[in-house]
Amino acid sequence: PLDAGALGTVFATTKLGYSLYRESRPSKQAPQTALTTVGGPKKNVVILGTGWGSTSFLKDLDTTLYNVTVVSPRNYFLFTPLLPSAPTGTVDNKTIIEPIRSIAKRTPGVVNFLEADAKDIDVENQTVTIHQATTEHSGVSKEDSGSSVVKDTFEQKINYDYLVMGVGAQPTTFGIPGVAKYASFLKELPDSVQVRKKLLSAIERASLYPVGSPERKRLLSFVVVGGGPTGVEFAGELQDYVDEDLHKWMPEIADEVKVTLIEAMPNVLNAFSKKLWSYAHEVFTETNIDLVLNTAVKNVTDTTITAQKKLADGKTETLEIPYGVLVWATGNAPRDLTKSLFQKIPEQNTARRGLLVDKTLKVDGTDNVYALGDCAFTGNPPTAQVAHQCGEYLAHQFKVKADIADLQQELIKASNSDEQSKVQTRLESAKKGLKEFKYEHMGALSYLGAEKAVADLVWGKFSSTSTGGAFTYLIWRSVYIQMCMSARMKALVASDWAKVSIFGRDTSKE
Ligand code: FAD
Ligand code: NAI
Repeated sequence: PLDAGALGTVFATTKLGYSLYRESRPSKQAPQTALTTVGGPKKNVVILGTGWGSTSFLKDLDTTLYNVTVVSPRNYFLFTPLLPSAPTGTVDNKTIIEPIRSIAKRTPGVVNFLEADAKDIDVENQTVTIHQATTEHSGVSKEDSGSSVVKDTFEQKINYDYLVMGVGAQPTTFGIPGVAKYASFLKELPDSVQVRKKLLSAIERASLYPVGSPERKRLLSFVVVGGGPTGVEFAGELQDYVDEDLHKWMPEIADEVKVTLIEAMPNVLNAFSKKLWSYAHEVFTETNIDLVLNTAVKNVTDTTITAQKKLADGKTETLEIPYGVLVWATGNAPRDLTKSLFQKIPEQNTARRGLLVDKTLKVDGTDNVYALGDCAFTGNPPTAQVAHQCGEYLAHQFKVKADIADLQQELIKASNSDEQSKVQTRLESAKKGLKEFKYEHMGALSYLGAEKAVADLVWGKFSSTSTGGAFTYLIWRSVYIQMCMSARMKALVASDWAKVSIFGRDTSKE
């Protein structure tokens, strides 16, 4: 007989199977048209970006109500929460992306996708100038940390009635010399490929040098700068790789690898409670990650990091840290496109971290430009959780806006006062659907390595729980599976985790 657990498993498997079936067979989509069903002009919605904000917006938007064009140098959505797991192969690179065309195909109306960068926005004439561009690894220009390169200079202008900006942010370097040129970042998928190649090249090169030689030691020094969640999660994943996999196949090298995490503040994970960051320090000590706190990096060359450490007596000490691989994770900076609007729109002149928006996510100083996620300053942290909720909210607001526009059209066409008053009542009721954006914080999680994680969880409105340990790691895994954008991604993530637990991670360079 089947018990409740078995029934639950059967149900979950059937549900996943059904979702996979639906995802691989998109239904026929309504074409883009000049007029809406009630005869009004159909508005053009241009969406910039294919990240958390824009993709959540697109997924939830009724694409039969607008002519939708998506512009992004990346023709896929990237599931960033698992990006720190990708360079070491805990999950496969392909697992954590979803082609934007398959997401667009699952919406009810036809969506146009253009692989391009938005270069300029003319808010007066409602046009966006775009040029073909492709996402490469971050830091590609060697001068800043931008991530897309122009493949040809052909430009075009596209018109919008509504512009939805979800261009995210780029990794900040604070202008520290050498960072853009020599460090790797963890922001885009090609960054993961680059970091993996650098790690395995350093390991293979180090094994050519005699034990104890300074060059071998340097090559096996893996340094992560920035003790926010990106740096902490990646340092944990890296040490897992060394302890669980490299140790099996190259024990003599694994013993010499040193993973160092440098943080300018007195502790890592500043956004978490003291209990949790103290726990993170303990786990790092246990797993031999060298935690260098109160230390700000000031300069980077191709082999050495120069940093300033604040000592307890208030003095400073200069540290020279040779490195083989350097991963830089010190937070976000606005993209050039966002910064250009800070200058162009007077209401944005005081903006620093993101576009200033009102409570409906409309960009201050514009009538029809909306910003969501990391490119907007909403007073919330720059997280996937916030960007996702912004996207869902805006998609719902766009449904209400379309309903209102249709009813206004019907009002014009109403032939007598009785009909007019009925439409007017419906219009008033539709307008009540226009709401303000309210972020609902569900909590924060971070992996630490060694199958341990920390979580600040929010239950309902008032209570919050801080927890750390192996059980939290299971919560971390189940939450991330739930957050995946598609059933396909859920299945692939689960299968990668199972694969690694059976066969271990791969140590080949590719
Ligand atoms: P993004 O997701 O960065 O998307 C921006 C999009 O805009 C991209 O498609 C980009 O190609 C495109 N774009 C860029 N320039 C242009 C242009 N000029 N024209 C058109 N398109 C453009 N948050 C959490 O809540 N939980 C986590 O566990 C978590 N883990 C993370 C792990 C890592 C390694 C990183 C880097 C971040 C993590 N975050 C996490 C933060 C989260 O990823 C971001 O807050 C989120 O991606 C922001 O969404 P967004 O849509 O604003 O930007
Ligand atoms: P962050 O801004 O959270 O942390 C950057 C860290 O780098 C800070 O602690 C800062 O003190 C340190 N730093 C800055 N300059 C330095 C220097 N010169 N030398 C040494 N240390 C220096 O950045 P992060 O981790 O990239 O995260 C960006 C955003 O993405 C955050 O909002 C974060 O919450 C979110 N995120 C969330 C994750 C999660 O929820 N698990 C995972 C990854 C990112």
